[in-house]
Amino acid sequence: MTTQRTLRRGVDGQLVDAAQELAHVYLKGDPRRLNHSAGAARAAAYAAAVLPTIPADVMISAAWLHDIGYSPALAETGFHPVDGAVLLRREGWDDQIVRLVAHHSFSRITAPFYGADAALAEFAPLDGLVPDVLTFADAVAGVDGRGATIAQRLAELRQRPRGSTGVPPDVREQWYGLITASVDDVQRAIRSKPLAR
Ligand SMILES: [Fe+2]
Repeated sequence: MTTQRTLRRGVDGQLVDAAQELAHVYLKGDPRRLNHSAGAARAAAYAAAVLPTIPADVMISAAWLHDIGYSPALAETGFHPVDGAVLLRREGWDDQIVRLVAHHSFSRITAPFYGADAALAEFAPLDGLVPDVLTFADAVAGVDGRGATIAQRLAELRQRPRGSTGVPPDVREQWYGLITASVDDVQRAIRSKPLAR
């Protein structure tokens, strides 16, 4: 895996190209999730185009890469945000992308229930609207990349098999509330921008 290493700094879209390529490498066996990632990248691109404070290449790349940790090839902790971020840090990706992936969609809330809180603590979260945009992109992409409302996103999260992780219902509701507020913040920021004429 050398392509993304040489392109990690990103010039004229090369960062996004490398992120897209790496997502295809790790998610090729999971086309639904790959389509979801493509949808997240489109949503991130849209938000970045409207919101001048959002770094487009970093944002779109993080969206492409946020779920690569689901790849069985990367399973270390079993907590996909950390497993993806560990690979990206090892491969020398932009630090903002690494941290965005590690903390995407409020992973800090569920990490303890996967025994992954110590591993997550190796990655500092970002502040401000940037991580909210990734949460927004993850939510509105839909499970198959065809788009979703926040209500559909929460319904999908509620239906997921719990497995042995045992995230308590009250913690799950707290998590859903944070995701909803984050998506609301981004949608409000987008709405506040006048349409280009
Ligand atoms: Fe996702």
